[in-house]
Amino acid sequence: SRDTLDAGHSKPAKLAVIGNPIAHSASPYLQQPALDANDIDARYIRVLVEPGRVAEAFDRMRALDFIGCNVTVPHKFEALEACSEVHPDARSLGAVNTVRFDADAVRGFNTDGPGFVRAIADEFNTTLSTLKVMIVGAGGGAGQAIATQCAMQGVEKLVLVNRTVSKLGPLVNRMLALGSTQDITALSFEDEELSQQCRSCDLIVNTSSVGLKVGDPSILPPTLLRSRHLIYDTIYQPAVTPLLAAGSALECKTANGLSLLIHQGVLAFQHWFPQTDPISVMREAMAARIH
Ligand code: ATR
Repeated sequence: SRDTLDAGHSKPAKLAVIGNPIAHSASPYLQQPALDANDIDARYIRVLVEPGRVAEAFDRMRALDFIGCNVTVPHKFEALEACSEVHPDARSLGAVNTVRFDADAVRGFNTDGPGFVRAIADEFNTTLSTLKVMIVGAGGGAGQAIATQCAMQGVEKLVLVNRTVSKLGPLVNRMLALGSTQDITALSFEDEELSQQCRSCDLIVNTSSVGLKVGDPSILPPTLLRSRHLIYDTIYQPAVTPLLAAGSALECKTANGLSLLIHQGVLAFQHWFPQTDPISVMREAMAARIH
């Protein structure tokens, strides 16, 4: 809430989320209550950073004794390159969303991928690695990270769907090189295989921006959905996207991206402050904002 953020205002800025644009990042709403609840004397701020200036932003934050930062669109790859040490999983994912400024190194991590694994476990009471997964809108940053995480988990089958199917070739090759999931298919929305592939999957994930705007259609035609499908949308505002509404109408189990937002935030916080568990504070903070 506004009060929680204001309470942080008297504290020294020690953490940030960097991106461009940045004004609408929800991260402060998660992270500041967790800092306050753990009696950590630090403020979490939003910082607008221009492309090409991520390394400079890191230098400035280090000079100011920042603990670390989160990184959002479009800087997750540039951040990976600007770190002096990158966790192997973040390197495989090709993206850094969490940075810790240690005395000896700038360490980069990715909590989006592991956050997704936890979100699926939480929402659907199942283990991602046992599922056959279709990722729709796999061409963007979120889609690539989630698709790669699925491949790292060794999901039984992976189907990637994208409007621009040519974007998927390099992604599929990188995922095959990880060596776990070998059953990987790339499709366009026009592909005649789409309906049969959809029927053979357990979990359908929207990683596109389709559903954000009023009037958007369901990213997948509702006729492709079956009641046995688990449906996850990485969008959390609106809380019910057209895809999720179509799934609910068929009595599918559905969930929106709030759990991903919270779990990636929890894991980031724990990179900065090991031995904390901010999950309930973060859940309550978001529940108070989203009705
Ligand atoms: P980000 O990198 O932030 O995740 P993005 O680059 O805007 O976001 O793209 C997200 C995904 O949404 C992409 O897979 C994109 O498809 P393309 O690769 O073909 O551009 C998908 N997307 C966006 N608008 C779409 C639309 N109207 N129909 C289908 N897919 C769409």
